[in-house]
Amino acid sequence: MKLKIKTSSPEETMKVAEKFASSLGYPVVISLIGDLGAGKTTFTKGFAKGLKIDENITSPTFTIMNEYSSGRKPLYHFDMYRLNSLEEALELGFSEYFDLTTLKGASIVEWAENTKGILPERHFEVQITKLGEEQREISIEPKGLV
Ligand SMILES: Nc1ncnc2c1ncn2[C@@H]1O[C@H](COP(=O)(O)OP(=O)(O)OP(=O)(O)O)[C@@H](O)[C@H]1O
Ligand SMILES: [Mg+2]
Repeated sequence: MKLKIKTSSPEETMKVAEKFASSLGYPVVISLIGDLGAGKTTFTKGFAKGLKIDENITSPTFTIMNEYSSGRKPLYHFDMYRLNSLEEALELGFSEYFDLTTLKGASIVEWAENTKGILPERHFEVQITKLGEEQREISIEPKGLV
C-alpha cells in the first residue's frame, strides 16, 4: 500500500507530516528519500509538530543527529548525508535508534541510502519528489509488514 499526496507549499508538506505523526503507533522508524532541497527537513519539522515538540527543528547535517525530548515522544532526527557507510553509523553508536525493541519514540532519517542496512525491516518509507518550485509529491509506504 502506498499513499500519495501532492502539496503546493512547505506549510502543506508540514501539515501532511504533522497528521502522519499523530496517526502513527510508536516506536517508529521513518526513512526520508528525496533529492537535495526536496523537503525532507521540512517534513521533519511538521512531524515534530505532530509530536507536540516545541523546539526549533534544524538540519542535523553537521551533527548527524539531533534529539528532541519536549514532545509526546522523543524524536531522533538523523541526516546521514556526510556518512559513507553503515560501519560509520554503528561506530557513532546509532544502532539502538534503529532497533524497535529498544527505540523509544521516533527515528526519522534523511539520506539513509548512505548507511545501507541500518533501517529495521519494519519502517515507513517517505519519498518526496519535486514537481515544481513549490509542488511536491509525497508518497508514504509501510515496509516490512507481513
Ligand atoms: N511543497 C513543498 N514542500 C516542502 N518544501 C518546499 C515546498 N515548496 C517549496 N519548498 C522549499 O523547498 C526547500 C526544502 O528544503 P529542505 O531543507 O526541507 O530539503 P531537504 O530535502 O531536507 O534537503 P537536504 O537534502 O539538503 O537536507 C525549502 O526551502 C522549502 O521552503
Ligand atoms: Mg535536510
